[in-house]
Amino acid sequence: MSLNRKVDPNIVFTHAKGSRIFDADGNEYIDFHAAFSPHLLGHNHPTINEAVCKAMDEEWSLMGSGVTPWEARLAELLCEVIPSVETVQITNTGSEANAHAITLSRAWTGRDHIILMLGGYNGWHNDVARAVMPTLEEIGPRLSAGEYPFLPLSAGIPETTTKHLHIVNFNDIESVEYVMKKYPIACVLTEPVLQNIGVLPPQEGYLASLQKICAEYGTLLVFDEVKTGFRSALGGYQSIAGVMPDLSVFGKAVANGYPLGVIGGRREIMDLFADPDPSRRVLIAGTYNAHPMSTAAAIATIEILHDASVYKQLEDLGSRLQAGLEDLFSEKGMTATVSRIGSAFCVYFCDHVPTDWHDVLENHDFDLDRRYRRLLIEHGIYHFPLACKQGSISAVHTEEDIAKTLEITHDILKRI
Ligand SMILES: Cc1ncc(COP(=O)(O)O)c(C=O)c1O
Repeated sequence: MSLNRKVDPNIVFTHAKGSRIFDADGNEYIDFHAAFSPHLLGHNHPTINEAVCKAMDEEWSLMGSGVTPWEARLAELLCEVIPSVETVQITNTGSEANAHAITLSRAWTGRDHIILMLGGYNGWHNDVARAVMPTLEEIGPRLSAGEYPFLPLSAGIPETTTKHLHIVNFNDIESVEYVMKKYPIACVLTEPVLQNIGVLPPQEGYLASLQKICAEYGTLLVFDEVKTGFRSALGGYQSIAGVMPDLSVFGKAVANGYPLGVIGGRREIMDLFADPDPSRRVLIAGTYNAHPMSTAAAIATIEILHDASVYKQLEDLGSRLQAGLEDLFSEKGMTATVSRIGSAFCVYFCDHVPTDWHDVLENHDFDLDRRYRRLLIEHGIYHFPLACKQGSISAVHTEEDIAKTLEITHDILKRI
């Protein structure tokens, strides 16, 4: 169970198809949560399910010995589509892949310290589990150049771990440099777009500046594309930004809802996984890594996404939803901004797209956001009932789904 799923209203969902999810009381919802975003092609996509069933019919199995042909095929496809990825390893989750990226960075640089973003999420393990949405009382005023204390998202993280973790504002190169001057930093680990506090994009030139400063200080740049990967583009957000990180981590949409994570990047760094010298070798292991069901799903997903019309469809639906929402908010005289990258979107109830978590905390109307989501859910439009959570459109949402969503939004705004 993921306790991130414990929310109010706490609905028991029983099944899902395409753009729809259904609860135990027989209610149907147009889904914009997509299970925290993996279902880029919608729920239970027939081609993906068919690929998984075919893998079972053909007796693919978890051999647990040697490399499988489908694992090799998936690796080939991933290296083809992601610009910075020369070689990959497959895991089950994004958290695992990020853990490997951190260990690789530490082994490559011989350094222990890491820079992470305030408002970012990179999984549940000790090195990254800091509060994603801390309150102003917890973090105090915006610090730049500077760093924030590590506020653990979990009990049980030793101080010997947290003393190596440095939290800075997103879109703030001065703070990155401030920390780099003070500590030997193994890697900057960041989502290229912060998609766990809505859709908070990098400012013009920010990712390129990060890359430059990392190169200057001998630090690795790691993009956590678990949310952006495949959703923003088949080559990840890096292909849109034109910035090549040293290492990249993918998950979620890569297998359209089947459990799969990817760590990939520069060959010389990735080769540490197989270094002949045991003192340099970085451990990668996992009984279920590259499990055949997930691997089959990922291959089928990439094959579908090779058809550029899928991204055109996602963009068309996204821009239709955005324009419709903007009209509704402006008709109603509400202060709201729709931030969107392709099929990922978020409504911020403030007059601009925020630049970092402080900006969200200081300007976004959290109470209004909570009421907005609750009313939408009560009327059959499912957004995750937590303020600032990203919305996700799938390629099988229809123009009618968007029209119905706008119609319902129009109605609930009268009562908000
Ligand atoms: C950006 C980002 N990185 C990493 C993770 C962790 O991935 P997983 O839940 O597959 O371990 C998530 C999950 O929400 C995420 O959004």
